[in-house]
Amino acid sequence: MKVGIIGCGNISPIYFEAGRKFDILDIVACADMDEQKAKARAEEFGIAKACGVDELLADPEIELVINLTIPAAHADIHLQALRAGKHTYGEKPLAVSLEDGEAILALAKEKGLLVGVAPDTFLGGGIQTCRKLIDDGWIGRPVAATAFMVGSGPESWHPNPGFLYEAGAGPLFDMGPYYLTALINLIGPLQSVSGSARITSSERTITNGINYGQKIPVETPTHISATLDFAGGAVGTLITSFDVWGSQLPNIEIYGTEGTLVVPHPNFYDGPMLVKRKNHDGFTEIPLTHGYTENSRGLGVMDMACALQTGRAHRASGEMGYHVLEAMHGILLSSEEGRRYDMKSSCAKPAPLALGLPKNALDR
Ligand SMILES: NC(=O)c1ccc[n+]([C@@H]2O[C@H](COP(=O)([O-])OP(=O)(O)OC[C@H]3O[C@@H](n4cnc5c(N)ncnc54)[C@H](O)[C@@H]3O)[C@@H](O)[C@H]2O)c1
Repeated sequence: MKVGIIGCGNISPIYFEAGRKFDILDIVACADMDEQKAKARAEEFGIAKACGVDELLADPEIELVINLTIPAAHADIHLQALRAGKHTYGEKPLAVSLEDGEAILALAKEKGLLVGVAPDTFLGGGIQTCRKLIDDGWIGRPVAATAFMVGSGPESWHPNPGFLYEAGAGPLFDMGPYYLTALINLIGPLQSVSGSARITSSERTITNGINYGQKIPVETPTHISATLDFAGGAVGTLITSFDVWGSQLPNIEIYGTEGTLVVPHPNFYDGPMLVKRKNHDGFTEIPLTHGYTENSRGLGVMDMACALQTGRAHRASGEMGYHVLEAMHGILLSSEEGRRYDMKSSCAKPAPLALGLPKNALDR
């Protein structure tokens, strides 16, 4: 499948590498609003064409666009790609506003094209092994879950962290998709959400790289505490924060009627994963049953390309991305309005990956 990448920034190298690793993805062009960045990536990864966005979208050879722009540009690029007749897969979140998210899904449906959304870390060996254990009944029915992403913010490591403090980012919109997607994959869709959120400081200071010392305004909450009510009855707790200097909280734990599952970090693809079953002593580390334990960003695009060839559903779907987006908006709205938010959307649990898949391939 001929693929074009739009957005040649920080995260793009791993997607260019996916083009080398996964045979089905043939990256033939890349674009960026800063054409120098596109040229540099094309040179670095041996991509035939570096160009502007319009030129990439006008190329009839390109069937699928990978959208790696910043969140504020996600919707516009997705919509442009769909209007140009291309399938589109983008970094999270699907869009900033719910209206834009809806417009993307509606246009894709009208055009008969697919939309896919990161994260695809839930396709990694760590979370796929968790999914298998839950599906096989090791912890019984999920009763509750906790998920924590707490840290001191990206200004200490990201060279351009400004966008991460704009609406559509912050700890909830930037990191929440990993946690919510993992939970939806493991437990199922959400029925309602509620939350309390705060902005702790109106500006932050970059403490790394060429922009060291630069102040950036904070436009979105930096500490968010949420309750998640799953359609299946499980109750989840999610805390995301850029306001915490240290913590010993786990990443994700799932509490079932027959035991507890400790889920690995949902921003990564590997383990460890631990289980403690009812009436057994202590936690046991379970060997991973599935592959893709290294950084496999692009796996969701590869899955979408395979799905396009066979007509099966793709896993990192626009529907799930929209459900996650609605949940994040619902949490902030709940905090503003002091009431629970009932979800309007739902999504299917993505199909689990089969055991024993060949290296660098997926089910066709
Ligand atoms: N950096 C990471 O570690 C990381 C990890 C996972 C996901 N992501 C996600 O990937 C996306 C990109 O993040 P990043 O860190 O690479 O950001 P970045 O700022 O380094 O790169 C974004 C690139 O997109 C380009 N761009 C922005 N708007 C554009 C437009 N309208 N048309 C064409 N090009 C445009 C910019 O010029 C820039 O080169 C974000 O959604 C982010 O949440 C980043």
